[in-house]
Amino acid sequence: MVDGETEKSTSRRVVPETRVILDGNETGQPGPRYFMLHKPQGYVCSTGDPQHPTVLDLLDEEITGDLHFAGRLDIDATGLVLITSDGQWSHRIVAPGRKCRKRYRVTLADPLTASGAEKLRQGVLLRNEPQPTQPAMLEILAERSCLLTITEGRYHQVKRMFAAVGNRVIGLHRASIGNLELDDDLAPGAYRRLSLQEIEVVTR
Ligand code: URA
Repeated sequence: MVDGETEKSTSRRVVPETRVILDGNETGQPGPRYFMLHKPQGYVCSTGDPQHPTVLDLLDEEITGDLHFAGRLDIDATGLVLITSDGQWSHRIVAPGRKCRKRYRVTLADPLTASGAEKLRQGVLLRNEPQPTQPAMLEILAERSCLLTITEGRYHQVKRMFAAVGNRVIGLHRASIGNLELDDDLAPGAYRRLSLQEIEVVTR
């Protein structure tokens, strides 16, 4: 019910003063919502999947129908996922022209060669794509692990970048998006709301 009357339209606009009641409960102040979640393995970033649990199943929120992901992670990847109902905000994070940085901790099947590292930094051709990847930042942590920062978000990009230099990703964890780091206090599967400051600084 919106201001005492049954509302059938899902696109009805409301202002903070509007009284919205869902299934008999006041919904509180309406407005966009912003969460960070530590994605565990085995979950898909999808709003509905017949075979696998979705990241939205991890949310203890009454209403999830208006939520979407500001950048997805593969089912076997872990780490930072941003979830919101604010399409303009998520667009600033995922739009290719915005070049928002994503940092990944990557574990590899084989040792990374110096020439492989150099190619990844400069840009590599992905299978079936005409344009090489944008220059990336690569920090070597050990023979088989590194931190890779990219500004694009092509399909399975990190796995395909390492495949392009003859290696294979066996562990993928997203540590940050823009200026937002995954909170160390969030165990896999846990989530929290973003602060106003975090909402503002993510793409600054
Ligand atoms: N790149 C990938 O290959 N997988 C992800 O989940 C994210 C980036």
